[in-house]
Amino acid sequence: MHSFKELSEKFEQQFSKRQFPDQPSNLYDPAQYILGIGGKRVRPVLCLLGNELFDEVHQDAYHAANAVELFHNFTLIHDDIMDKAPLRRGMPTVHTKYNDSAAILAGDVMLIHSYEYLNKINSKIRTKIVQVFNKAAREVCEGQQLDMDMEQKQPEQVDFTDYVNMIALKTSVLLAASLQMGGIIGGGSEGNQKHLYEFGKHVGIAFQIQDDYLDAFGDPEKFGKKQGGDILINKKTFLLLKALELCTPAQRKHLHGLMDTNPDNKVEEVLQVFRDCRVDEWAEKEKELFSMKAFEHLDSIAVLSSRKQSLRELADFLLTRQH
Ligand code: IPE
Ligand code: IPE
Ligand code: MG
Ligand code: MG
Ligand code: MG
Repeated sequence: MHSFKELSEKFEQQFSKRQFPDQPSNLYDPAQYILGIGGKRVRPVLCLLGNELFDEVHQDAYHAANAVELFHNFTLIHDDIMDKAPLRRGMPTVHTKYNDSAAILAGDVMLIHSYEYLNKINSKIRTKIVQVFNKAAREVCEGQQLDMDMEQKQPEQVDFTDYVNMIALKTSVLLAASLQMGGIIGGGSEGNQKHLYEFGKHVGIAFQIQDDYLDAFGDPEKFGKKQGGDILINKKTFLLLKALELCTPAQRKHLHGLMDTNPDNKVEEVLQVFRDCRVDEWAEKEKELFSMKAFEHLDSIAVLSSRKQSLRELADFLLTRQH
């Protein structure tokens, strides 16, 4: 059994080689750029760990892991256009460094490249793997659209259930599918795969709650994204929803005014209301609830508890991460 660190080193060793041809450079350089500026590589390692829960890590797990990391990076490039984000992993986003068209096309070609990796998987399990991958990929698009739709809505038109559904789709399903693909490659039973998927889904929800928390309260140096980026574009994160639920009528009026008029000090002012309403403390509790559900599913997987240690450690790291 390997730790997260060991598996991420093994993954990186084979993933860090140049993934794309040299020419046309205006297409492939942006794609190579995003892969070269870091990233935690959580999803591919989840795939390898999902495999290792049941059996030794197979070459097919590396193919699936490469596919999922390429897919994830493709979604980040397009997400940064949608979110008007200037920074990613502490560096300029692809559309800022190059331009929107280059970013769109680089994302597209990365998606194709991820299917090239899936195509290398043993034909006995390939169809099943592609099914799991495609379902997650489609759901990510659905989640991203719901996220965009919510940006345009008034906060009162969005409740916490809508928010959880949206983040489950845009974020969690890919973590869940990464684990399940690993589980399939390792030969896990259908029942075990289901628990593995649900473990990933609940960890993923807590992971996105932490992401939204860090977007507001994180140290921008460590987080590598623009602080308050979600606030600036009126994202309906749970922080905003909860603040509006807990605040006084005067604070509510103030928040609405800030969202409508976008003043220069918007981020600081919104953060002050968040702090006054203690939504950060509430976020901790919500994360705790989702991670407890996640661990119940992990406990239900019928393999020796010692085999689950790396997954436990990885989940703990993800939920306390600062970047
Ligand atoms: C960022 O994912 C997008 C979200 C779903 C929150 P990560 O936090 O895994 O990003 P990298 O790959 O480590 O940069
Ligand atoms: C991202 O959610 C989900 C996907 C990329 C599909 P966010 O928009 O919160 O991710 P970051 O914060 O930009 O990484
Ligand atoms: Mg987004
Ligand atoms: Mg974003
Ligand atoms: Mg975010």
